[in-house]
Amino acid sequence: MCGIIGYIGFRDAYPILVKGLHRLEYRGYDSAGIALSNLSGSLSIYKTKGRVSDLEEYCKDKDISGSIGIAHTRWATHGEPSNTNAHPHYSESENIALIHNGIIENYAVLKQQLIRNGYHFRSNTDTEVLVQLIEYIKVLNNTDLFHAVQLALNEIIGAYAIALIEKGGDNRIIVARKSSPLVIGIGDGEYFIASDASPIVEYTKRVIYLEDEELALVSRGFSPKIVTARNVEKTHEIIQLEMNLSQLEKGGYDHFMLKEIFEQPKTLRDCMKGRIDVTGKHIVLSGVMDNRERFLSARRIIILACGTSWHAGLVGKYFFESFCRIPVEVEYSSEFRYRNPVIYGDDIVIAISQSGETADTLAAIELARKSGSFIYGICNVVGSSISRKTDSGSYTHVGPEIGVASTKAFTAQLTVLSMMALYLGHEKRTIDDERYSFLLGELNRIPDKIEKILQSNAAICDLSKIFTYAHNFIYLGRGFNYPIALEGALKLKEISYIHAEGYPAAEMKHGPIALIDMEMPVVAIATDNVMYDKVMSNIQEIKARNGCVIAVVNESGATIREIADYVIEVPSTEDCFEPLLNIVPLQLLSYHIAVNKKRDVDMPRNLAKSVTVE
Ligand code: F6R
Repeated sequence: MCGIIGYIGFRDAYPILVKGLHRLEYRGYDSAGIALSNLSGSLSIYKTKGRVSDLEEYCKDKDISGSIGIAHTRWATHGEPSNTNAHPHYSESENIALIHNGIIENYAVLKQQLIRNGYHFRSNTDTEVLVQLIEYIKVLNNTDLFHAVQLALNEIIGAYAIALIEKGGDNRIIVARKSSPLVIGIGDGEYFIASDASPIVEYTKRVIYLEDEELALVSRGFSPKIVTARNVEKTHEIIQLEMNLSQLEKGGYDHFMLKEIFEQPKTLRDCMKGRIDVTGKHIVLSGVMDNRERFLSARRIIILACGTSWHAGLVGKYFFESFCRIPVEVEYSSEFRYRNPVIYGDDIVIAISQSGETADTLAAIELARKSGSFIYGICNVVGSSISRKTDSGSYTHVGPEIGVASTKAFTAQLTVLSMMALYLGHEKRTIDDERYSFLLGELNRIPDKIEKILQSNAAICDLSKIFTYAHNFIYLGRGFNYPIALEGALKLKEISYIHAEGYPAAEMKHGPIALIDMEMPVVAIATDNVMYDKVMSNIQEIKARNGCVIAVVNESGATIREIADYVIEVPSTEDCFEPLLNIVPLQLLSYHIAVNKKRDVDMPRNLAKSVTVE
């Protein structure tokens, strides 16, 4: 959700903070703001509704001096996007400025108490309540800011990553976190704080990840002092970042999303590297191998995820059930966490999350942990909260995904799930040696086949122009391709704002077929697999009602070519790996339709990359 960046050191803070905000803008982008403290002891806040570029415009004639500062890009929770609701927020005396990512759940009660004590509120945010509370506690206890923050956080229910600076506050930034990530970058005589490492990496690769319910005092010239909310001192290992700057740039593409779609052959090779051995005959997935017995004796697998990651989980169900005959349930984390679900101690829980910070998935993990089940994480962001809260796991290794619509992380999630299921199926002997090595060989060929699909980009761009003004879309698939229909529809709606629904093709006749007419494009995944004839019948039913069909087909699909209005050809593969190929043209189709509609593809309205609020 919101992005946080802070700087304390010997350079001017403003350019570092603004550049950092640009890098973090994918986390939230309805307003942005900055607080700077300078040598004269002043504390200035500049903030505005809109993008970081609007903030830069606004700051053009302002005093932007200062080598200590904090800055924020917002994804609104409490209070509409506006100049007033933008962060940072001042305390009553305007002596403290605070930025916040997360939600203060008991803000309403606290606000009433503060109003009764003479505090005034300018915004509708929960964040302003926190900064006022800190000042109230500081004055009441006649204590310093760090201690006041510590006391205030004990009063708070909710999730937060915060950073504060104080007027004349002799060279320090105070930060704290609970359920929202916060990282401290350690430079040479300077420190950076941020909600993820992306704005830090160009200055230093040495970072510390703050743990839940910890605070840090980051002062010029001293190592950060880290304590818990209950004042226990902590020391943390310094982590070396593996990220590099080029991963954070568009590299000549118009949008991060297009770059990330085109990166998929490489990212999948990276994801498999070292995991399918050089002979191509064995899977070496240490997280699963180290826990082999647990996996083999699992009564059931429960997959927890949200959004695109949930769609990956659905494909995972097909993998695990067909390769290893282990029953699988795929749950929306947000429903699971409040459902009082039945979880057995010998269940394996797999949490899938690109960001590794999704609040609902983190809470679902906590719930599952209470039942004693083993929890495995599939995350992309190294060191993220979910990767640290799980018992073991596999990273997807695709590098930073900046486009808000997930693409390369999704195909890598599928790749990890398929490797896990293949390994376990082979160990359980539910897949024999011959089939195992054949499937591994085919999985290894997927990146080359994606390369081939990417060569159709121009043709898919042409096709997209026919559908720019469609108001609705239906996506159909069956078997392994049913989750791909859901994911194709999600990609289209989130970046083009066209209403789109995905269905298992045979479900059409149970209701949705009523929607079919000439105005309703239907994207049908009709590749040459075991369900081909069945899908063909479903498509015939749509054509009989004048529907317009865009079909994803293989070279061999003669019948579908006759029936469909438009076709997109993809290479053929084993049924189980089709999702890895078939999603790619759907990503491209969504991308081009959104570009035709002049949508902000990388930062679609109302969305944010990392959903750290429930
Ligand atoms: C859609 C998308 C979201 C995320 C969802 C979960 O393109 O990216 O649906 O998949 O918010 O996020 P993670 O995977 O970070 O847990």
